[in-house]
Amino acid sequence: MRLNRYLARAGVASRRGADEIIAAGRVAVNGAAVTELGTTVDPASDRVELDGVPVTLPESLTYLIINKPAGYVVTMSDPQGRPTVSDLVPGAPAGVVPVGRLDAATDGLLILTNDGDLAYRVTHPSYELDKVYRVVARGVVTKESRRLLETGLDLEGRLTAPARIEVLSTEHHTTTAEITIHEGRKRQVRRMFEAVGHPVRSLTRIRVGPVGLGDLRPGTWRDLTEDELQALRIALGLENG
Ligand code: URA
Repeated sequence: MRLNRYLARAGVASRRGADEIIAAGRVAVNGAAVTELGTTVDPASDRVELDGVPVTLPESLTYLIINKPAGYVVTMSDPQGRPTVSDLVPGAPAGVVPVGRLDAATDGLLILTNDGDLAYRVTHPSYELDKVYRVVARGVVTKESRRLLETGLDLEGRLTAPARIEVLSTEHHTTTAEITIHEGRKRQVRRMFEAVGHPVRSLTRIRVGPVGLGDLRPGTWRDLTEDELQALRIALGLENG
């Protein structure tokens, strides 16, 4: 197995991130530092260390989804002692971490895994994996606002990538819509709606690529099904369709 894949499998970094770590001379195999990017290792017999600390492969890869309630911070441990998503998956194997970010105030679908490669691809915009959010926003979203949201608007000097909006209802000075984006910039959906004058009242992620939230109850988790995992791997170019 190539060393970068080994490190990604171990949850250390993405494969590309692992290459940087290797090139920086931080990895040793059987006690000797390696910087050669093509290095291969035998997981059964070779000893791999990062900064002198042994790196072992998880016994198996774990893929979970949770329906995160608002108020939970997307991290496995919080120095400030706030509730975190690890409280929702108490028995998760070591190395299982949330994939990408959701604001504490946002609820909905969050994937957790110890597969570093898959995690990297889900979040990196170059893989263009759609994320779908249900948005309840103040005011009635006009055609012009919708066009701006869809074609791209300036957030901190950089245009957002094209998005898709489906308005589900406009009543009581409130718009409920679904927005599909593949970027994951900080507070992106909230900032996009704020930028067109419609502050977000509630935000729920309902889909990540081929994986939907379905009727998973808030605060609970389940394993990804084989079919979901396969579809996700195909969408991310990790497997041929
Ligand atoms: N966009 C946001 O504004 N917040 C999230 O949590 C996710 C997307």
